[in-house]
Amino acid sequence: GSVPSRKYQGFWYPEGFLPGAMAIQQRFKARPDDLFLVSFPKSGTTWLKALVFATMTRKQYPLARHPLLSLNPHDCVAYIEERFAIGQASKVEALPSPRILSTHMPYSLLQDSVAGSGCRIIYIARDPKDALVSFWHFTQKSSPKLNKIPFTEAFEAFCEGKFPFGPIWDHLLGWWRESLKRPEKVLFLKYEGLLEEPVANVKRLAEFVGCPFSEEEEEGGMVEEIVRLCSMESMKSLEVNKVRKHGPIYQFANSSFFRKGVKGDWRNHMSPEMARRLDVIIEEKLQGSGLTGWSSQA
Ligand code: A3P
Repeated sequence: GSVPSRKYQGFWYPEGFLPGAMAIQQRFKARPDDLFLVSFPKSGTTWLKALVFATMTRKQYPLARHPLLSLNPHDCVAYIEERFAIGQASKVEALPSPRILSTHMPYSLLQDSVAGSGCRIIYIARDPKDALVSFWHFTQKSSPKLNKIPFTEAFEAFCEGKFPFGPIWDHLLGWWRESLKRPEKVLFLKYEGLLEEPVANVKRLAEFVGCPFSEEEEEGGMVEEIVRLCSMESMKSLEVNKVRKHGPIYQFANSSFFRKGVKGDWRNHMSPEMARRLDVIIEEKLQGSGLTGWSSQA
């Protein structure tokens, strides 16, 4: 792959993140009122962070002067494996409750940290083909630390599961199964669902985190306003999301988290045969789980 990676307990980790992942597995304990935002990379993490943060803080700030207008969504939550990897575990532990934390960790690795804690988890999933394309573009824009590889090479690695936080199918399955077991604690969202029905999904997540919209708010268009504030168009045009840097381990410009924001961009990078090949792998791996909907022939 394009990121130097190491395999640990069935998953591939970018070199710099494995120490954090292991530290979390060994000693991180979630609090009952923690909220986790979980994803496989490039599945809509930034968008989810913005939507959740805007929804949860809507009573504190008028949306016209919301902190998201001057703060990158990644700076609104603590990305735990990164914090742990750079020696800032104590800062995460010192955060006041309720904390909003984010992670790309697979369920199996985070299990002991969250099991029995009662914390809530929102997982965002995306068509693996689009997540791959998005990741490939993302690495093209990174610091010189990552070697830029041709798309076909990234595709092969992805199909083998050798990809940061991959294999994607095991990542999806771990969290999907947990959401079936404990729907009141684990909400499983799809990027495509957010694109198609943003208002309904923001209402869903508001209810899930325990701050549902009142009738008055709904009638006043509050949900639509949050959707607009967090939209690609709005986020991409903000100065903060154009200039500032993000990430102490790998350096990416904030702007690299906002590219196209559509479904099906894989069509511009994969032949129908490649798409079908990846579809078959995903379908096989997810078979019987009930998780479907990303076939290229749909
Ligand atoms: P594309 O590269 O396909 O455009 P992550 O946040 O998990 O790193 O994922 C990044 C992907 O989400 C990118 O996909 C990016 O453009 C898209 N994205 C970021 N903000 C978004 C928003 N507000 N609405 C829709 N998509 C968004």
